[in-house]
Amino acid sequence: MSLEREAIRILRANDRGGFTIPTAGLYPFQWLWDAGFSALGWMKFDEARAWQEFERLFEGQWANGMLPHIVFHRPEATYFPGPDRWGTRHTPPTSGITQPPVVASFVRMMLEQAEDQTLAQTKARALYPKILAYHRWFKRERDPANTGLTNTFHPWETGADNSPAWDEALARVPVDPTLPPYTRRDTSHVDPSQRPHQAEYDRYLSLLEVYKRCDYDQLRLHRECPFRVVSLIIDCVLHRANRDLAWLSARFGFGDEAEIAGWLEASQGAIEALWDEEAGLYYNYDRVQDAPIRVGTSASFLPLYAGTSSPPRAERLVRTLESWAEQVRYLVPSTDPGHPSYEPQRYWRGPVWAIMNYLIAQGFAEYGYPEAAERIHQDTLKLAELSGFSEYYHPTTGAGLGGGEFSWTAAMALWWEVSPWAH
Ligand code: GLC
Repeated sequence: MSLEREAIRILRANDRGGFTIPTAGLYPFQWLWDAGFSALGWMKFDEARAWQEFERLFEGQWANGMLPHIVFHRPEATYFPGPDRWGTRHTPPTSGITQPPVVASFVRMMLEQAEDQTLAQTKARALYPKILAYHRWFKRERDPANTGLTNTFHPWETGADNSPAWDEALARVPVDPTLPPYTRRDTSHVDPSQRPHQAEYDRYLSLLEVYKRCDYDQLRLHRECPFRVVSLIIDCVLHRANRDLAWLSARFGFGDEAEIAGWLEASQGAIEALWDEEAGLYYNYDRVQDAPIRVGTSASFLPLYAGTSSPPRAERLVRTLESWAEQVRYLVPSTDPGHPSYEPQRYWRGPVWAIMNYLIAQGFAEYGYPEAAERIHQDTLKLAELSGFSEYYHPTTGAGLGGGEFSWTAAMALWWEVSPWAH
């Protein structure tokens, strides 16, 4: 079966009625940024269904604008922590944290590429005020001091759950002595050597107890949450999303461009302050220690996707990518392969993720490095050919790891193969 047909089969199999689960068993609900990538995939063979993905996602939006990272559309026993553990008050039930805000950018891409322009304009126009409310929430509640960067309160929000970038910050999170007992479900679906350690899980869940005690009041979390970082994935994705939101505002005549331009001015300089000249890449930042987190990750390339980098910095990033390419067979490993924390099979500590590859490659292409972009694209396709549409891949052997038949990996093959550099 061709890659394209197999990808369509997977998205259809993971469709639960207007929303796409990442993969059966391991992740049986709708996830925020997965929904964005899945929508891009659907766009290639069913445009109406693609727009519906976002409509279902926004069913989870909170009254304050926050878009949660999981919408529990209907009960499923195969996942933990479910709605009871989060204890949020929303119908349908949701988690209480967010995830990389890809939506505005993907809505713009979909609108620009849609064959059915009438449908696309109706859908994008209707989504616009909801996305704006979400971005206003980010600004108001995650960057109240207007630093230009947002505070992130959980490794799960970054999308890169157990990245070595969060090790030290997470290790400082006290394990809650009253933590209610729990049974992990992830390790019954996937080999534990490919998943986070137990010590990390205890802290992930201790953080949930902090949120509940703060009643999900973000302004309290800035003071009381022991885990506070700046995540390059969140802030770079948000910067680009704000550019695209301003574009949508102008396109439909909503008139919010000046407000959004103010956010962009702040984040432009603040993202660039995360550059490290000696390392030749960008670092995440620990807000508790007030210090950069000196671990190169695949997110270290995302200021290209944001569009904040200067040309000399883009050039340095190409060199950094080349030095990583000498150490692995397939790009882009999620952690610098020369770093002592690199683990090529464990989740966000080394494996290659197709969706990160797409964002990174797009950045390189836009900065005028089509060879780097195409190398990443080809590696992504080779991995899918070799090992199917896995959740993530071993950067040296190319083995498929984590969950199988994975929606966003399949979606990338569709969206990226048919129209590589149209954006
Ligand atoms: C894991 C990933 C996260 C993703 C989710 C669903 O938690 O780290 O990025 O959104 O699974 O696929």
